[in-house]
Amino acid sequence: MRYLGNKESLLNDIFSLLGEKGLLKEDYVFFDCFCGTGAVSASLKNTYQIILNDILKSSATYAKARVIAEHCDFRKLGFDPITFLNRSTDSKKGFFFDNYSPGNSNRMYFSEENAGRIDFFRAQIEDWYEKSLITVDEYDYLLGSLLLSVSKVANVAGVYGAFLKHWDKRALQPIEFTPISRTLFPSKESPIVYTEKVEDIIADIECDILYLDPPYTQNQYGTQYHLLETLVLN
Ligand SMILES: C[S@@+](CC[C@H](N)C(=O)[O-])C[C@H]1O[C@@H](n2cnc3c(N)ncnc32)[C@H](O)[C@@H]1O
Repeated sequence: MRYLGNKESLLNDIFSLLGEKGLLKEDYVFFDCFCGTGAVSASLKNTYQIILNDILKSSATYAKARVIAEHCDFRKLGFDPITFLNRSTDSKKGFFFDNYSPGNSNRMYFSEENAGRIDFFRAQIEDWYEKSLITVDEYDYLLGSLLLSVSKVANVAGVYGAFLKHWDKRALQPIEFTPISRTLFPSKESPIVYTEKVEDIIADIECDILYLDPPYTQNQYGTQYHLLETLVLN
């Protein structure tokens, strides 16, 4: 996932630093209080008990989905939702179709076809959750996977502050429901997840390692990622 300040390329350095400082201890609690994509927590999930926080619900959800990915088996649903969503051809003229595609607006964030599919995916996930066919972790895993899928066909230059005025080739490809990858190293426990201003909670949270990766921009990230936030908040 492209994201301002994503630490994917620094993971080896972060891991080495933790090792040098003698902090790779299994009973330690790691608090990723500006978690963003959750890249750092996802890479440490089978070492530490993880606590996640981000002011954006979409970031906290995506990060959580990466940490819990291996624990979602969709037992109650009884079938693989990823295969189901990809095999379906259904579409819905919903909020994304109306507001973020040329279907009913002058915005070009998504093709009409993909916006209709995104509305269908979002509604289907909500329906399964409302009918208690999926757990809250499975719900968040599917929402995280939807964020990933949407990011692959968005007609933007990385952030959602503006759409491109011409169609990028990848935005015209039909959207695929892309699951967040599952690794051979599942988290030991479910993460605790907050969606708060860190200033409001930091005094109350016990941890052994505090990882602070604050914003790079003067404006809040919501300006650039509002569309992903809207998708998660429904
Ligand atoms: C530099 S990014 C973190 C990137 C992350 N380490 C990664 O690898 O993807 C900073 C994050 O801080 C979040 N943020 C900004 N202000 C915040 C606040 N007051 N409390 C909590 N999170 C905040 C932003 O939404 C953004 O996701």
